[in-house]
Amino acid sequence: MKAGQAWHLGSIGDMQILPGPRHRPSLKRPIWIIFLVSIVSLFLVCAYIYPPRGSAPCYVFSSRGCNVLSDWLPPAPARAYTDEEIASRVVIREILKTSPTKSKNSKIAFMFLSPGSLPFEKLWDKFFNGHEGKFSVYVHASKERPVHVSRYFLNRDIRSDEIVWGKISMIDAERRLLANALKDPDNQHFVLLSDSCVPLHTFEYVYNSLMYANISFIDCFQDPGPHGNGRYSDHMLPEVQKKDFRKGAQWFSMIRQHAVIVVADSLYYSKFRDYCKPGLEGKNCIPDEHYLPTFFHMLDPVGIANWSVTHVDWSERKWHPKLYKAPDITLELLKNITSIDESKHVTSDDKREEQVQACLWNGIKRPCYLFARKFHPGALDKLLKLFSNYTTL
Ligand SMILES: *[C@@H]1O[C@H](CO)[C@@H](O)[C@H](O)[C@H]1NC(C)=O
Ligand SMILES: *[C@@H]1O[C@H](CO)[C@@H](O)[C@H](O)[C@H]1NC(C)=O
Ligand SMILES: *[C@@H]1O[C@H](CO)[C@@H](O)[C@H](O)[C@H]1NC(C)=O
Ligand SMILES: *[C@@H]1O[C@H](CO)[C@@H](O)[C@H](O)[C@H]1NC(C)=O
Repeated sequence: MKAGQAWHLGSIGDMQILPGPRHRPSLKRPIWIIFLVSIVSLFLVCAYIYPPRGSAPCYVFSSRGCNVLSDWLPPAPARAYTDEEIASRVVIREILKTSPTKSKNSKIAFMFLSPGSLPFEKLWDKFFNGHEGKFSVYVHASKERPVHVSRYFLNRDIRSDEIVWGKISMIDAERRLLANALKDPDNQHFVLLSDSCVPLHTFEYVYNSLMYANISFIDCFQDPGPHGNGRYSDHMLPEVQKKDFRKGAQWFSMIRQHAVIVVADSLYYSKFRDYCKPGLEGKNCIPDEHYLPTFFHMLDPVGIANWSVTHVDWSERKWHPKLYKAPDITLELLKNITSIDESKHVTSDDKREEQVQACLWNGIKRPCYLFARKFHPGALDKLLKLFSNYTTL
């Protein structure tokens, strides 16, 4: 009678209510066999439904292969997206699916972020000269009205606002430039430059390099150190997870679809606006170093090159990158910069790990950089003099 009850309950978890030894003699043989068979079948059913992660599911769920320890951990449950994320991701996916509309009229938008006048306007004038119709210029002057010396920059100022270093106002200025440049349907590539940037090649070279590359050049790497993941805040959850947090220089070049999704984004933007700022929780998060790298890493990782086409020299390991002054400007220096064909990232932890990546343009290794910074205004005359020499190296 008691054994019969145990059989009816029939689950592994109920085993402890089996009758104690005192009642055992009352169990009859066939009931014991049925009981054992049912335990074995239950085990088999469980093993079928919840297989260990060792075999097939290993390559189904993990592209990185398996390691012995994780084989025996239960699979991490897939996170359910919030309504906002579902909406955001579906819109972004649809925009990314649209094919580029390249034509003879395709232009590159050169978008300058500057406090005021641009010290290298004359050099850019030389660069643009003769290529009318293939580019458009936009200037965001955040402090004072610029005085323009080149006709290509006249009347190209957009409505601008103040930029506070390390604050979201930097991203706001980038988005303002993108929105203005998107108004021209011929713009296909959107390059962000600063007042201290100079061109390294001829216009044709830059135009062809960007126009025939089908990706965006957004600097992006994973830095486990204090100036990388150390700046992440859990307040960004659930949309932005620590494992997706990335770092990179702000100077980008992006394709039109990417420009559209950046201007359209409000979900991820608001996370960085609210929880990535200097001083928050004792961290020094700077939105322009993390928002776009993290955003693109999460939403279109294969659509970005992971390096920037604008060269900068951090090798002195100071708070600011190397500033090239007039005496530094030689054909040899420019030759050195234009021949670099690997991009390098260094982590900010004690390991100071160097992550080196070949610069591939549609699969072919070529020099990485089309522009360079930071140049001191005093370097202008020497750069003007050497322009036709170094751009044709
Ligand atoms: C950039 O890095 C991501 C991984 O974060 C990778 O999936 C992608 O292929 C890389 N892009 C290129 C062009 O190699
Ligand atoms: C150019 O590169 C060479 C080889 O790395 C180096 O020895 C030289 O000092 C560099 N010159 C300049 C001006 O940077
Ligand atoms: C970009 O072009 C290369 C070579 O033409 C091609 O192999 C690759 O699939 C393209 N990538 C994208 C994202 O369209
Ligand atoms: C630059 O090119 C011009 C004309 O080709 C030449 O006369 C001049 O010597 C070159 N300058 C240098 C520094 O090589």
